[in-house]
Amino acid sequence: MGKMIVANWKMYLSPSDSVKLFEVMAKKGKAVICPSFVVLERLGALAKKSGVRLGAQDCFWENRGAYTGEVSPLDLKDLGCEYVIVGHSERRNYLSETDEMVRKKVKSALTAGLIPILCVGENEAERNAGAAGARVVEQLEKALAGLDKLGAGQEIIIAYEPIWAIGTGQACGPEAAAKMHEVIKNKIAKLLGVKNVRVLYGGSVDDKNVASYLERAEIDGVLVGGASAKKDIFASLLAAAANFE
Ligand code: PGA
Repeated sequence: MGKMIVANWKMYLSPSDSVKLFEVMAKKGKAVICPSFVVLERLGALAKKSGVRLGAQDCFWENRGAYTGEVSPLDLKDLGCEYVIVGHSERRNYLSETDEMVRKKVKSALTAGLIPILCVGENEAERNAGAAGARVVEQLEKALAGLDKLGAGQEIIIAYEPIWAIGTGQACGPEAAAKMHEVIKNKIAKLLGVKNVRVLYGGSVDDKNVASYLERAEIDGVLVGGASAKKDIFASLLAAAANFE
């Protein structure tokens, strides 16, 4: 199982800048790119001809109906997405997305044949109080409640993203991240019977520190935000990551 690089472009890039950056990255190597919904269709067509895979940044928990502004997981699949980020802390914080909403999204993504990238992570107060592990375990239990095993061909990826490390330039050290990845892998083994679930680290990953994460056996890849939307930095990050394939 090679290391996985996932780019979360958040709301950083315009459609034309997204296409430009995608074209450059598609030549550089393997990554999963999660752009804005509004360019998924254009990038889906380009992705087919490259080693780059496509993911969405969110999905709704219903497939069809009167849900103004929401996006169906079926449509993401139709546009060429293989992955979808679910439960990102920015959505939990700015849009009050609850554990229950995250649970429903994980389920609908799996049913649609997408691979959910489920984000979990503690805030600073929880870390300082020594409650980080308990918080992450609680998020996993709630997001996966009612799901005791995956169906044939289904897969789930967990992203450990401590909130205090996201977009702050203050990354969680690889040692501490690796410890949390162990906790997550053990919990997923208990909850879903999946032995070595893929766990990504996210939070201020850049071209300089990416190797320090990828060299750890417990860390199966990285979820990169800000650094993935900058051409030179992301190119150099992919070059550093190529040593770990
Ligand atoms: P960052 O974001 O790399 O900008 O810290 C990571 C994320 O939110 O996925």
